[in-house]
Amino acid sequence: MPSNAASPRSIDRARLDALRQNEDRQFLSRTRRSQALCQQGLRTMPYGVPMSWMAGLYRTAPIYIAHGSGAYFTDVDGNAYLDFNLCDLSMTIGYGNAIVADALAHQARRGTQFLLPTEDAIEVTRMLSERMGLPFWQFTLSASGANTEVIRIARLMTGRRRIVIFGGHYHGHIEETLVRSENGQTVPDTAGLSPGSAAHTTIIPFNDLVTLEQTLSRGDVALVLTEPVLTNCNLVQPSLAFHEGLRELTRRHGALLCIDEAHTLQFAFGGLTRAWGLRPDFVTAGKGFGSGVAFGLYGMSHAVAECFERNFDSDVGPRGIATGGTTYASALAMAVAKAVLEEIFTEDAYQHLSSLGAQLADGLDAIFKRRGLPWTAFRCGPRSGFCLEPSLPRTGDESANSLDAELIDARRVFMANRGIWDAVLSAGPQVSIAHTSSDVETYLQVVDEFLGCIAV
Ligand SMILES: Cc1ncc(COP(=O)(O)O)c(C=O)c1O
Repeated sequence: MPSNAASPRSIDRARLDALRQNEDRQFLSRTRRSQALCQQGLRTMPYGVPMSWMAGLYRTAPIYIAHGSGAYFTDVDGNAYLDFNLCDLSMTIGYGNAIVADALAHQARRGTQFLLPTEDAIEVTRMLSERMGLPFWQFTLSASGANTEVIRIARLMTGRRRIVIFGGHYHGHIEETLVRSENGQTVPDTAGLSPGSAAHTTIIPFNDLVTLEQTLSRGDVALVLTEPVLTNCNLVQPSLAFHEGLRELTRRHGALLCIDEAHTLQFAFGGLTRAWGLRPDFVTAGKGFGSGVAFGLYGMSHAVAECFERNFDSDVGPRGIATGGTTYASALAMAVAKAVLEEIFTEDAYQHLSSLGAQLADGLDAIFKRRGLPWTAFRCGPRSGFCLEPSLPRTGDESANSLDAELIDARRVFMANRGIWDAVLSAGPQVSIAHTSSDVETYLQVVDEFLGCIAV
């Protein structure tokens, strides 16, 4: 510890528990109309919501939303929330963005989809190639859909079945990646999956090139799929040599490499693929580039695109590779993608995200130090978070030490009662393009107040 820091302090669990109970009571009394709607919803929707995550992601009762603007949304009881969760990074451009609204309205009046391309697709894919380096692109409805298609193409191209992912991963609701390690085996992590869905997935620790090489040298790996920095178990940064080694080893052993930028495309202009000079065979993205509009996408190298074209799937003759769907790559999605890339995700916008992100992380570090907590702020572009240890994790397992559900759930409800919608369990607070420096200060003040109630 630095010599001027107070001796390490910790959290008083009894106080935390009492605080949580009190805050939960206040939350329920502030959200009565939401609770009534949820009761009504229970008649026609499991958990009273139209999609299970709307209940399952939070330990507070679900709230129903009236509208959103900029960095804020407002519930049906009239409570406004300054949002640091950004709908799991699907709202990095802020609520009610006028550019997106205009693009949507304009295209909706001209036809939302045709099951044929519109000219916007040319400009969108040109911009993507320029920004991210991969020459060919396809669209889906979600990042899960993009990763699903990438796995399929990689298997076809390599003639192998196995995929490798890293502990602490999340790549969407895909059978092969909804897995965890248990006693050295890969097992399904959720219910209702196909029998054998985990049989061809290997999970290894992030940043562990030795285990990666051992795994790849067996010669059965089609694809290594990873985020550039793990963002779904707090934040795990790669070591300096990791990405270079990952690329070299996958090439040497004939496996393809996909960088999943569903979250991190919002961390840097052109994603971390561009910022860090990565050279994957595929890159995937989604969440409507943080606009909330439902589309995902993937980029592929020349070699992959050749294989893709050779295995063209037509409705007559022998079947090729199954990709696509009726509403994928719609005129609406292309219009929004073009508007976001051209007018919103500019280099200046990323600069704004990054400087507010640094303010957030610096502010958290300053609070931890002042309160004598031996913690560290996570930081990567617009994203920060609470590492409950003095040094940052190198693997998903190490990072899981900071997933303290009691603490995070109490913090979330405390902050919600003070007008802040904080990050969910596996994430950390993140700023949007619509946030301001004073929004970040507001967040930090409430965090400080919260820690003041529970640190001993
Ligand atoms: C890295 C990563 N990949 C893929 C996905 C799946 O995105 P979606 O739920 O939009 O399909 C997510 C979702 O959080 C993600 O974090």
